[in-house]
Amino acid sequence: MEWTPGAYELADLELLLSGAFQPLSGFLGHDDLHTVHERGTLADGTPWPAPVTLHLPEAAPGDEVTLLDPEGVPLAVLTVAEREPDGLTSGPIKGLGAPEHGPFARLRRTPAQIREELDGRAALAVTMRGPLDDLTEIVATAKELDAVIVLLPLSYGETGPAVVRAALRAKEQLPEGTLVVSVPLAPREEPEIDLELREHVATAYGATEHLAGPEPVRIPGPPHRRGLVVFFTGLSGSGKSTIARGLRDSLLELGTRPVTYLDGDVVRHLLSKGLTFSKSDRDLNIRRIGFVAAEAARHGGLAICAPIAPYAATREEVREMVESVGADFLLVHVSTPLEECERRDRKGLYAKARAGLIPEFTGVSDPYEEPDDADLIIDTTHISIEAAVTQVLGALRSGGWVR
Ligand code: ADX
Repeated sequence: MEWTPGAYELADLELLLSGAFQPLSGFLGHDDLHTVHERGTLADGTPWPAPVTLHLPEAAPGDEVTLLDPEGVPLAVLTVAEREPDGLTSGPIKGLGAPEHGPFARLRRTPAQIREELDGRAALAVTMRGPLDDLTEIVATAKELDAVIVLLPLSYGETGPAVVRAALRAKEQLPEGTLVVSVPLAPREEPEIDLELREHVATAYGATEHLAGPEPVRIPGPPHRRGLVVFFTGLSGSGKSTIARGLRDSLLELGTRPVTYLDGDVVRHLLSKGLTFSKSDRDLNIRRIGFVAAEAARHGGLAICAPIAPYAATREEVREMVESVGADFLLVHVSTPLEECERRDRKGLYAKARAGLIPEFTGVSDPYEEPDDADLIIDTTHISIEAAVTQVLGALRSGGWVR
């Protein structure tokens, strides 16, 4: 069996394999998670501050699961110990020795390599999630301890390379022999737990003393420069494509932002050609749209999507994809009721669906899950397309995305 874990899980996997999460040898199970939560130790009493978990869609105790990176490279084999009903799966892992890649891969050195290089000397480890604003404390502490400085940029996620660059810049102003090791430690939500975990990792890297660098000042940039995905959802014939096209045209007329337009029907002619309207194909269709939209938004673009997107969980996945590249996501529910869509029946599809000629037709013989997280709801029963477009543009203006 093969499985590609999520980005957060893959980062934890890398640290498990490198030894940075010593003494852990795999993903934690029920008993360990319970004691970690209750008293900050593993079930056997060993101090350990944070959950390190993996979710698998299916697996049974004893199964061997090959964990792949997103490009399909086998990274490790997990021998399943336990699996909870929610998919939480524990068990020991064995690395397959896949070569590191990604930015600054050469700086992803293992704790064993660093400890060997330290060769018994004292070490002051500095974990960083952003630039170090003051090097004097670090230099003074290292001098006092007669310690080698080991900068550990925590290089998880989109900002990872920038943190490593900050560490390399700092190294130039620090004493000779200062080491830089890129550690893809994903941040933990609770600051105390995050700090404790950083201390554990620092110790694995041979630190006799640990300093946590300052928290990065998050400057996401003004909204009119940030990527944005405007995602219309609604029944066939609800007016979402027409509003989306009107919005695209208005934005092109303004000319202040690059626009990518991903209409449902248009996507199905190329990007998703050949997909059916089964639940899994619809989900795949929406994921493809989300992927392309997020790529456009990653570079500050504005993407407009207008598929039916009937499933809430899949819409949520797209929101996460978009937000993970640092862009914003605006969900517009075109809520024109079924009766009105069917009365209009511009493409004659509802008549065919009622006659049983089109199976799994959304609203007739297939579900549409109404959003409860829409940023804007527009019912086109009694308003013109222009008025609807004006509403969306108004939301973009008041959010600062369009000036
Ligand atoms: S989605 O469910 O995957 O989001 P999408 O927006 O791409 O759907 O395609 C919807 C369009 O496909 C509709 O506007 C309609 O023209 C056409 N269509 C064909 N068969 C179906 C069906 N079974 N259900 C809904 N729409 C269908």
